Amino acid sequence: MLSNKTIILGITGSIAAYKAAEIASQLTQAGAKVNVIMTKEAIEFISPVTFRALTGNPVVTEMFDLASEFSIEHVSLAKSADIVVIAPATANIIAKLAAGFADDMLCCTVLATRAPVVIAPAMETNMYDNPITQDNLSKLEARNFVIVGPATGWLASGKEGLGRLADINDILGSIRHILDRDGDLAGKHIVITAGGTQEPIDPVRYISNRSSGKMGYALAEAARDRGARVSLITAPTSIPKPAGVDVIKVNTAQEMRQAVENVTSQADALIMAAAVADYRPKSTANEKIKRRDAGLTIEMECTPDILGIVKGNFIKVGFAAESSKLVENAKEKLKQKGLDFIVANDITASDSGFGVDTNRVTIIDREGRIDSLPLMPKRDVAERVFDRVAELLPKPKSR
Ligand code: CTP
Repeated sequence: MLSNKTIILGITGSIAAYKAAEIASQLTQAGAKVNVIMTKEAIEFISPVTFRALTGNPVVTEMFDLASEFSIEHVSLAKSADIVVIAPATANIIAKLAAGFADDMLCCTVLATRAPVVIAPAMETNMYDNPITQDNLSKLEARNFVIVGPATGWLASGKEGLGRLADINDILGSIRHILDRDGDLAGKHIVITAGGTQEPIDPVRYISNRSSGKMGYALAEAARDRGARVSLITAPTSIPKPAGVDVIKVNTAQEMRQAVENVTSQADALIMAAAVADYRPKSTANEKIKRRDAGLTIEMECTPDILGIVKGNFIKVGFAAESSKLVENAKEKLKQKGLDFIVANDITASDSGFGVDTNRVTIIDREGRIDSLPLMPKRDVAERVFDRVAELLPKPKSR
């Protein structure tokens, strides 16, 4: 996804410098050309050899290193960059950048580049909270630097607080988001639901279904990589949070409905890939229900039909899990729920639908167009869904 991209990773002297190794590794694995610049303080924490090995590229540590291919024309790196990322960024580098210093290779590169710059601060809470640091960050933000984090958590001082380097996934997500901001979903807000809702019976038991959430998560990543701002409303799954996506966790159909209504006010499209429970226990026991030989009858009631209820000026896409009469049933749902199109899949096939990485779907739109796609990875299905969404989005007015 990041092939043909040149990323400059700036590393400064923070205890979190070791985390930059994971960032360098993941960016390289995603196909990017990663050039690392380390300040002399950073070298006290982690060796340039690590980054040389991880990226396969020389690491720049000094401004006037005659052996370095970049040192003579020290702006050559700045020119080649698609993005500059400083992670971790200390209070010192933030202050220097805000003031326009050019006394080391990293500062010079940032001053000289036209590429977007991402800053991931990491420092003690008091240093971060200090109005001087806050002013410096505001200055950088006003000049279109993107600030990611910091997060709250365990700090080097042994205390918990704000100042920890942002989650690596969030840093990688912002990089992808910035690099993809010219995609066909750029500037669009896409809301996606995923997973199977859980309807509680008592404090330890619930009723749910076999949805893994894989289709919804693949949709979220595809939309993000096409430049969209993505809100992923997810029922519990075992899939890690996708980078660069706003994740809203819910359990029940009612919570999912609330979240969908809250976030769709400004949405351009809603894709309901979640397997929402159709029924829930009429009441939830406050205490764990005891075993009784007579057995147990649970009275169930309908959950809200989220897709059917939600209103707004956005593209509505549903999924239809069918075990028979695929097209007929899906067409009925399309009409009933007022959708722009529906993605129907046959859940009886072992290579398609719940739990697996592939899906064989039929896309049916309100004009009656029926498109039966072959078996493909869920990520490819997601791309086909967004090809259709992109067709339906209003075209930008040409000047
Ligand atoms: N859906 C929803 N709210 C529900 C049930 C389903 O928003 N309470 C959405 C699903 O996310 C999906 C679409 O409606 O996008 C169709 O879901 P599906 O389970 O196939 O259909 P149902 O409407 O539940 O009908 P049935 O279970 O009878 O086939």
